[in-house]
Amino acid sequence: MELKGAFVGLSCLLCLSSLAEKPSPGLGVNYSSAGAKIVADHAAAQNVALHVPAGESPSPFLPGGKFTATWTGFLSADLRSDFQFQADLNGALKLEVNGVPVLETVGTNSTSALSQPIRLNKGTNLFSATFSSPDSGNAFLRLQWQPKGGFAQPIPHGAFTHVPNAEESAGQILRHGRDLFVEHRCAKCHAGPDSGMPELAMDAPSFDDIGSRRNAEWIARWILNPKEHRAAAQMPKIFGGDSAQANSEAIATYLASLKGNVSNDAPKLALDKSDAGKKLFETLHCAACHNAPDSSDVAASRISLKEAGQKFSPASLADFLKRPDLHYAWIKMPRFKLSDEQRAGLVAYLISNGNKPLASLVSTGPEAAERGKTLLQNSGCLNCHAMKLENKFTAKGLAQISNWKSGCLAEGATGNSKAPQFNFSTEERTALQLFAATDRASLARHVPAEFAERQSRDLNCAECHGKIEGIPQFDILGGKLKPEWAGKFIAGEVDEKPRPWLESQMPAFPKRARLLAEGLAQQHGYPATSVSASPHADLVEVGRNLVSAPPAGFSCISCHTVGNVGATQVFEAPGINLAKSGERLLPGYFKRWLRNPPLVDSMTKMPVYFDDEGKSPLADVLEGSAEKQIDAIWEYLRLGDKMPAPKLD
Ligand code: HEC
Ligand code: HEC
Ligand code: HEC
Ligand code: HEC
Ligand code: HEC
Repeated sequence: MELKGAFVGLSCLLCLSSLAEKPSPGLGVNYSSAGAKIVADHAAAQNVALHVPAGESPSPFLPGGKFTATWTGFLSADLRSDFQFQADLNGALKLEVNGVPVLETVGTNSTSALSQPIRLNKGTNLFSATFSSPDSGNAFLRLQWQPKGGFAQPIPHGAFTHVPNAEESAGQILRHGRDLFVEHRCAKCHAGPDSGMPELAMDAPSFDDIGSRRNAEWIARWILNPKEHRAAAQMPKIFGGDSAQANSEAIATYLASLKGNVSNDAPKLALDKSDAGKKLFETLHCAACHNAPDSSDVAASRISLKEAGQKFSPASLADFLKRPDLHYAWIKMPRFKLSDEQRAGLVAYLISNGNKPLASLVSTGPEAAERGKTLLQNSGCLNCHAMKLENKFTAKGLAQISNWKSGCLAEGATGNSKAPQFNFSTEERTALQLFAATDRASLARHVPAEFAERQSRDLNCAECHGKIEGIPQFDILGGKLKPEWAGKFIAGEVDEKPRPWLESQMPAFPKRARLLAEGLAQQHGYPATSVSASPHADLVEVGRNLVSAPPAGFSCISCHTVGNVGATQVFEAPGINLAKSGERLLPGYFKRWLRNPPLVDSMTKMPVYFDDEGKSPLADVLEGSAEKQIDAIWEYLRLGDKMPAPKLD
């Protein structure tokens, strides 16, 4: 997008018109490149933070290199009060509140001084922040505020609102089009850039041994019209006209002949386990993404499981639940840790509440199979589905496409064209066309923070996080967890449950895990690889005492397990094993949390140990300073496996 003076910033026209409209969460952000040709892009942001590796871009619609980012909107305070601001940054920052300059600073991987206190009105205050990237090094910014009598901390996301302008809506439509383009795998047929957006590498289910894993009757129906089975299907309809049914059946016959060794460890189907399966379906919150097969509460946005018994045999369904991604690495169905008995229960529940088995295929036999094989090679199936079979299908390269209103984007049926049918809505077609009208260089750019935003939305993270009691808050995770640990955890590679008392579990998304964790960190202004300060061995013993039983310590061990030492009074409010803190938590989060846990999570039962002024009740230890005592506890806990055990009395 060209910047044609269209960027209005905070002109009063905007502030007047905005009063009438309902504000959206977060701030509006305008990115512009500082290169010879100025390019700009608009988006929404949840907070004033970014982390952009040197030479990269904060937005997929900008070339890499020097840039500015300007956030605008409103900042709300609960009460009329004084606040100071502070930033961790590499780059330059200008902050204005209610039109008054508040903080102007240039930082080189440093923390700015606190600003002068400024009075925020109860309700909304006009807010704008402009960041310019540094000449060298990674660009980053984390803005914090310090309430009167408090300490510096991230501004809660809920405090920001803004009224989206036309440029932001345009930026959103382009992002939607770009997302549809990769999700539907357009580039598998219309070759373009092959690296950049991680989604360009997305596969489709493998046909290896598919005859042993899926029922032929279902395969035929699916090929005939995927969207009829699942509104969110990404696979297009390939065949139209009179021969569609016979073609689909022929391919299904061929695919059904591809049999192989299938594991025999599938549990026996015992339909009496259905009740246990139903209960498990509820405790694991499968309904975050699925309609329960026996429920009348059906949403089109969730995937139906009514066809499970038509698609799978009981044994292959049990196999699927063990490793959904075994034959389809980028599948959106996550992996749960399930025992054989649990899988048997789920299978019983799904099959006994599903649709009746499908009628047999009409055209089967070796001739149909041979015809199916030829169709498979000539119909574009193998552009998306990898298989050791020659692919004889070709389509124009992306750069050769001339008419973005025809072929796959034609309105209505495509007639005799070879083009597949995606059945896009008018809105989706428009988004794809507007995206196509850009130079499409954004396909070759990977912006981790935006990857995390797209994927958290597509994978329904917020259907569990923030909705179900006991599951941790989502919007703070990037500023809380070390990306290395979060990546391993989301991949399902951490054996122990952080919260063993929860009946539910975090399901694993192995293919996207590390990229998600990196993106979440960058959204909060942290690098994809965490940085550790050097240890202070002299503080370890002090920290150990503070964690231990009273009177020397705070008795953290009453709620928290520490290494192999179990919590002494778990019934109070179980806490996470503290020996994991160093591996899990960003040090800044640890310090913020201990200073005042309810400020981070208003519902938490973890006590507050230090007063607003930063004084500790243990006045003799490290001058009674909260900050120093918290540092000492961190030095002790970060030893992890190597820490000496806390003292129980
Ligand atoms: C299975 C392969 C396949 C996939 C996937 C595919 N297309 Fe096509 N597309 C074709 C074929 C075949 C044509 C007919 C013209 C040709 O031979 O290239 C076509 C034609 C088009 C045309 C018209 C080209 C012109 O110059 O007239 C557009 C636009 C188009 N596709 C866009 C898309 C978009 C957008 C996507 C993703 C949502 C997509 N296609 C996915 C195979 C595919
Ligand atoms: C984060 C979202 C999510 C959660 C949570 C989830 N699923 Fe899924 N599941 C999916 C998606 C998406 C698919 C479709 C995958 C595909 O074929 O591309 C799917 C597919 C399935 C299928 C195959 C259905 C078919 O027609 O192909 C079964 C069976 C299934 N899920 C069962 C479960 C069970 C049981 C649970 C709870 C233990 C569960 N899912 C939890 C997202 C989820
Ligand atoms: C544009 C890429 C694309 C094309 C072309 C395509 N598929 Fe698919 N196919 C997918 C994706 C992606 C899925 C996973 C379900 C979904 O999200 O739609 C899928 C699912 C399937 C499944 C279900 C597999 C399972 O284990 O769940 C079968 C069978 C299948 N495709 C067969 C075919 C055949 C046969 C053709 C050609 C006539 C074809 N596909 C063309 C992308 C494609
Ligand atoms: C089916 C429900 C469900 C879905 C969907 C889900 N989560 Fe979780 N998640 C959980 C539960 C339960 C926990 C707590 C696990 C524990 O502590 O034992 C958790 C914990 C986490 C944690 C660790 C947080 C901490 O403080 O320990 C991260 C990181 C996380 N989830 C990321 C994600 C991401 C990213 C997505 C989407 C891609 C997602 N989750 C989707 C249920 C879910
Ligand atoms: C009354 C019980 C209780 C006491 C006593 C207690 N905590 Fe906690 N703590 C909790 C709870 C509850 C949580 C939140 C667990 C969650 O996120 O689900 C928590 C969370 C934490 C976390 C974040 C852990 C993580 O990995 O996400 C740290 C660090 C922590 N506490 C340290 C301490 C320290 C140090 C002390 C002693 C000074 C202490 N706690 C005393 C209940 C307690």
